[in-house]
Amino acid sequence: MPNSVIIKSKIDKFNKVISVSGDKSISIRWVLFSSLSDGISKAKNLLLSEDVLAALQAIKKLGIKSKINKNICKIYGKGIDGYKYKKNIKINAKNSGTLGRLILGFLVNTPHPIKIYGDKSLSKRDFKRVSDPLSNFGAKFKLKKNKNLPIYITGTSNLKPIKYIENKGSAQCKSSVIFAGMRTNGTTTIKAKKSRNHTELLCNYLKLPIFIKKNKKYDTIKINKVKKIKKLNYDIPSDISSSAFFIVLTALSKNSKLIIKNVNINYSRIGIIKILKRMGVRISFSNQKLYKGEKIANITIHSPSSIKSINCPIKFNSGAIDEFLVIFLVAAKANGTSYFKNLDELNQKESPRLKWGKKILNKMGVKTVTTKDSIKIFGNPNLKINKKIVIKDYLKDHRVFMTSVIAAISFGGFWKIHDRDSIQSSFPDFLKIINKFKKL
Ligand code: S3P
Repeated sequence: MPNSVIIKSKIDKFNKVISVSGDKSISIRWVLFSSLSDGISKAKNLLLSEDVLAALQAIKKLGIKSKINKNICKIYGKGIDGYKYKKNIKINAKNSGTLGRLILGFLVNTPHPIKIYGDKSLSKRDFKRVSDPLSNFGAKFKLKKNKNLPIYITGTSNLKPIKYIENKGSAQCKSSVIFAGMRTNGTTTIKAKKSRNHTELLCNYLKLPIFIKKNKKYDTIKINKVKKIKKLNYDIPSDISSSAFFIVLTALSKNSKLIIKNVNINYSRIGIIKILKRMGVRISFSNQKLYKGEKIANITIHSPSSIKSINCPIKFNSGAIDEFLVIFLVAAKANGTSYFKNLDELNQKESPRLKWGKKILNKMGVKTVTTKDSIKIFGNPNLKINKKIVIKDYLKDHRVFMTSVIAAISFGGFWKIHDRDSIQSSFPDFLKIINKFKKL
C-alpha cells in the first residue's frame, strides 16, 4: 500500500453513529500508574497505538511485564519500588511527548543513568521544561543542546520536595512533577495553570496523598510520598481529540448528523465543543455518566446552517490545545474573520502546528495573518477548492495528516497527503472510520 492518500472528491451528507479509539492521555497514564501498582491491573479498550505500545515497551525495560489479549491489556505490577533493570538502559519514547516527559517523573530516584530518546519529531521538542523542575528534586540530567533528546537522567534516593510554578498550562510538566513528588519525603507544592487533569483524577481515585485547591486560573496541588498504589482496572473511554476530526467533519457538512459514543468529556478537554458551539455548531451530550472521576457521554453533532466567526477567548486554549488545526478548518468556512491568540504552545507540538495551520489554509486559498503566537483566519462560507494540494514533510505529525484528510473530503480539490503511517501514533483506526463515510 502506498504511504500517501489521494483524495479527489467530497463526501455526501450522512447520518451515522460511530465509536472512536481509547483516550491516549488516559491510556499512557494507566500504563504508567499500573507499572508501579501492587498486582495485576487490567484495562479494557486501551488505545493500541504506537505511543501507548511505546509506553508498554518502556515499562518492560524497567522489568514490568504486560500482556494484550483481544480488548484486554494486563500489567503485572510489582509495587512502588518494583522496577528492576540493568545499568545503562535506553527507553525509546518514539513520537510521544507524554510518555517521554511523564516517565522522567517516575525515574527521579533511578540509581543508574537511563537514556530516553525518541523519533525525529520528539527529538526537536523541549525537554528542559521537565528536567529543570526535576533537577530541583535532586536528579541530574544531560540533554542534547541543553534542551532536547536524547536525555540522560540519574536520580537519587535523597530527593527533596520542591515548590514549582507551572505557567505554560502543560499537563505533561505538571504530571511529571506530581510523579516525582510521589517518590519524595515531604510535601511538593505545585501552582499549575489550568490543563488536563487526568493525573490528578487518577491519584484521587487511587486514594494517593494528593490535595488540590482549585482557583480560577491556577490549581494548587500538594503531593506527599506514596507508599503503595493499588491495582488499577480501567475501562478506557473514547478520545475527544480523535472524535474532534469527526465533529469538524459534521460541522463542515450539510444536512448531516453524527453520534459519537462513550467519549471522555472531562471539562479540561472540551475546548473544541465550547469553541464550535460559539461558532453556531449544534452539539449536545447524552447518557452522561461519571467514571472514576472522568465524565463520559455520547456526543451528537448536527451540521449548522451557517458558521459564525469567533474571537476565541484564551481561556479555551488549554482545553483545545490538540484540536486547533482542525478547528481552523471551521474558521475557514465561517462568515467573517476569526482570531485565535496566545497560542505559542501550538508550535511546541509534534510539528510547529501554528505554522502548519497557516500553511494548510493558505494552500486551500484561505487568507491568514499570523504572528508568532496568533492567527487571523478570513473565512469564506462558499469556500470550494479546485486545485491540486500536496501535504508533505510535516514531521509525520498525525494531526496534520488527519486535518488534511478532513479538509480534502469537506472542501474538495485534488489532494495528495503523504505519510499515512503518521496516524499509527495516536489513531490507527482513523482511515478505517473515514472509509465508513467515504471510500478512499
Ligand atoms: C498531554 C498534554 C498536552 C497535549 C498532549 C497530551 C497529556 O501536552 O498536547 O497531546 O496527556 O498530558 P502539554 O502538556 O505539553 O500541553
